[in-house]
Amino acid sequence: MEYITLNNGLKMPIVGTGTNTYGKENNDYNGALTNKIPELVSALELGYRSIDAAISYRNEELVGRVLSESNVPREELFITTKVPPSEEYISTKEATRAAIDNSLKNFQTDYLDLLLIHHPIEDKEQLKNTWEVFEEYYEAGKLKAIGVSNFGKTQLNEMKEFAKVKPAVNQIQINLKEFNQDLLDVLQEEGITPVAWGPMKAEDHQKEVLDEIGKAYNKTGAQVLLRYQIERGVVVIPKSHNRENQASNIDLFDFQLTAEDIAKINNL
Ligand SMILES: NC(=O)c1ccc[n+]([C@@H]2O[C@H](COP(=O)([O-])OP(=O)(O)OC[C@H]3O[C@@H](n4cnc5c(N)ncnc54)[C@H](OP(=O)(O)O)[C@@H]3O)[C@@H](O)[C@H]2O)c1
Repeated sequence: MEYITLNNGLKMPIVGTGTNTYGKENNDYNGALTNKIPELVSALELGYRSIDAAISYRNEELVGRVLSESNVPREELFITTKVPPSEEYISTKEATRAAIDNSLKNFQTDYLDLLLIHHPIEDKEQLKNTWEVFEEYYEAGKLKAIGVSNFGKTQLNEMKEFAKVKPAVNQIQINLKEFNQDLLDVLQEEGITPVAWGPMKAEDHQKEVLDEIGKAYNKTGAQVLLRYQIERGVVVIPKSHNRENQASNIDLFDFQLTAEDIAKINNL
């Protein structure tokens, strides 16, 4: 595994696994919760250590149980979760504290590696209050890093007015359908690590080009796509219910794309 160093010095695995449909009937985001996640067990066996969770996914407790029942030491894991910007979690500072305490309980841990605001908070006062609680837990060592998700330039600028701790990451959609290059440039200029959600999405004609590039390295197009992102400093959190794909999505560290490959992908 390779790591990226966040702006506060914390090391984050450059590849993690998403969990948004794990432990749910028919692997459906809105499906009823089942009581088990064989895919997460499989991901841990294959070497994944970074786990991308969220309160909205409803499966934190189950994910937490699988993690604590695994024999992976806590210090090897990098657990991310996210607080949604709904009244239940952000109406008061107390509500935000209760949300974080509950996530700590769900993961059976006394710290989370990364906590994100899941989506922009439109009300400035609420955004400030929520971030202040994140900072409070960060200062107390209960959060090793804090960040945001789906924030655009405007919201990031708003945060500069009050944030004592700069967001360490912004988790946004980055894939070949949604390149998001302008925002990516801003993040990289500001020292905020981009984390790509939905990293596997690509059109068929784009997949053909990726597959073609992969032939030279005996890699699949999906691996080329993930390698492309990590080579430019983007953390990826692909999610798969298929062990073969999980294994392939983490097998990215024994080849390097050429400038010509990169130019081809940039032109997609
Ligand atoms: N912050 C946010 O607002 C936000 C939004 C969406 C997602 N997320 C996070 O990002 C994670 C990833 O995003 P996502 O789950 O939406 O999409 P994704 O990881 O881009 O794509 C998942 C799909 O790609 C397929 N896939 C995975 N690896 C493959 C491979 N090697 N070859 C071919 N197909 C492959 C999977 O099918 P198989 O199961 O058949 O492999 C699955 O259908 C989520 O799980 C969640 O944790 C965050």
